[in-house]
Amino acid sequence: MRSGGGSGLILGIESSCDETAAAVVRGGGEVLSNVVASQIALHANYGGVVPELASREHLRNIVPVVHAAMTQAAVTFADLDAIAVTEGPGLAGALLVGITYAKALALGLGKPLLAVNHLEGHIHAVLMEARQREDARMPLPLLALVVSGGHTHLYLADEDPATGWRYRNVGRTVDDAAGEAFDKVAKLLGLGYPGGPWIDALAAHGNPRAVEFHFAQIKPRAPGPGIVNKKAPATPTEGPTFDFSFSGIKTAVLRYLQTHGMSSAIEERRKVLAEMPNAKAADALPLCDAQTLDLIASFQFAVVGNLIRQTFSAAGEFAARGILISGGVAANSELRRRFSEEAARRNLPIAFPSLALSTDNAAMIAAAAWPKFLACQFAPEDLVATPQLKLG
Ligand code: KG4
Ligand code: ZN
Repeated sequence: MRSGGGSGLILGIESSCDETAAAVVRGGGEVLSNVVASQIALHANYGGVVPELASREHLRNIVPVVHAAMTQAAVTFADLDAIAVTEGPGLAGALLVGITYAKALALGLGKPLLAVNHLEGHIHAVLMEARQREDARMPLPLLALVVSGGHTHLYLADEDPATGWRYRNVGRTVDDAAGEAFDKVAKLLGLGYPGGPWIDALAAHGNPRAVEFHFAQIKPRAPGPGIVNKKAPATPTEGPTFDFSFSGIKTAVLRYLQTHGMSSAIEERRKVLAEMPNAKAADALPLCDAQTLDLIASFQFAVVGNLIRQTFSAAGEFAARGILISGGVAANSELRRRFSEEAARRNLPIAFPSLALSTDNAAMIAAAAWPKFLACQFAPEDLVATPQLKLG
């Protein structure tokens, strides 16, 4: 296997969910191309990602997407130093398409293959962009909130000059991810998929204090199987928990709209929007009354408030010197505003990804692969897809 070096050109490939993506990144920081083929329109018909359809679409798109990324970057396969691919977490069949393609390409070209955790990719999207801005070098350790349709995780991230990046998972959702709550509440209200952008746009027109939502206190986690002391019964870990739970607020929204007689208006809205080609949040605005807009604003206000509380409490507990937010929900405008205000109040630097790098992309995979490339941490020949891959 070759050792890390060359001009540092890495082709990143991402296919963990409903985006087929390829990007060419030089030296872990210079994005030469970043191509994303989104399957949103396909899955929107079903109100969520259909795994079998996602795999087929990845298979259809992977070759043209990689070719587009290579053409836009104006490089040839021979110029590449390595191929990086998402190993997990994600949908098994979707991951297999990207991994199989990347393995075959690496083998055919005689180039090394790097396996990247999708969550680490989201973190490195922000780190890469922060490095590009002179004013935003992030002090370590960082507290990273990865908040997307599949994940709501808090990681304490640090860099060891010898072994590279280290992550400690200090919080995670015990049920739904925050993005999933946005998607499910949007669906309950007869809005489009994915729900986050719809709720984000509509919330600006409602009163965030109209409906009060509460979050249950999450019990401390019992130790995982790997750290159970067999002589003692499993007891909860000591100290505070920074875990999340978003299934309760979805149920609370459902109960609210059932008890406030909103169902027929929702069905009407769903029908009108379904008949519009490429309906957007702006099309839904005239179809929402004040009560609906207030409910949407209150839901978003509560979710963002909960994310802020847990993130900044964990930052205090672990003496983090900066905050990093990533994942699809990091695109949310209220989240960006309120997190920035809170960070400024606490005098903590904070970084978000650009909107293009908030949602799934392959530039983040190539960026996360760069330290691994330098450390010659190449993927084994028997690399498999790991749908439940953990970070930290
Ligand atoms: O990171 P991502 O593209 O895919 C996953 O790894 O899940 O995140 C997609 C999620 C969806 O749940 C979507 O509704 C949410 O990110 N999202 C948003 C916004 N834009 C996307 N949530 C809230 N506000 C937004 N503006
Ligand atoms: Zn993601």
